[in-house]
Amino acid sequence: MTGYELIVYIHILAAMVWVGGILFLSLVVVPASRRYPEDVRARLFTDVGRRFRNVGWTALGILVVTGAIQMAARGATLASVLDGTFFDSRWGRVMGAKLLAVFVMMLLTALHDFVAGPAAERAARSGADATTLRRRSGHLARLTALLALVVVFLAVQLVR
Ligand code: HEM
Repeated sequence: MTGYELIVYIHILAAMVWVGGILFLSLVVVPASRRYPEDVRARLFTDVGRRFRNVGWTALGILVVTGAIQMAARGATLASVLDGTFFDSRWGRVMGAKLLAVFVMMLLTALHDFVAGPAAERAARSGADATTLRRRSGHLARLTALLALVVVFLAVQLVR
């Protein structure tokens, strides 16, 4: 295995953890939790959310670092990205679209993890109705999952 292949391997493992994690949460944990009383659901979301926040941001960090190494290995330089010449080729344009999608996805994740999620948690703890806030967190999480699938689609376009 070459050094480059090792970096791609780590990149794909991190993508599996990130995408697999958000799909598992939305397709398994959230529907399964509907059988439980509200207070139990609130505690479950708090604990699972906190735990996945650490795992998720670690995976995202690894994706950004290994992704940047892969870009450099494929000829990207800071100068060519900043002056726009990097985006002249088809590969550069697909990579640009992927970078944009990753940026928006990370923004939505930050909103979910550090704003909407904690607000819902605080409301639930103070005994207020957290339904709207929890629904907002759910919308953000679903949008993030959709964008993650777009990022993987663009990643496949990069190498074929
Ligand atoms: C700033 C962030 C990122 C950068 C700069 C980046 C860059 C790249 C590059 C250059 C490749 C091509 C590797 C090759 O030569 O084979 C690649 C592949 C890939 N990326 Fe990323 N990436 C980033 C984030 C992500 C994220 C967030 C995901 C998942 C949601 C992801 C999923 C993948 C996958 C699955 C492949 C492999 C595609 C295949 O082999 O068919 N990447 N990435």
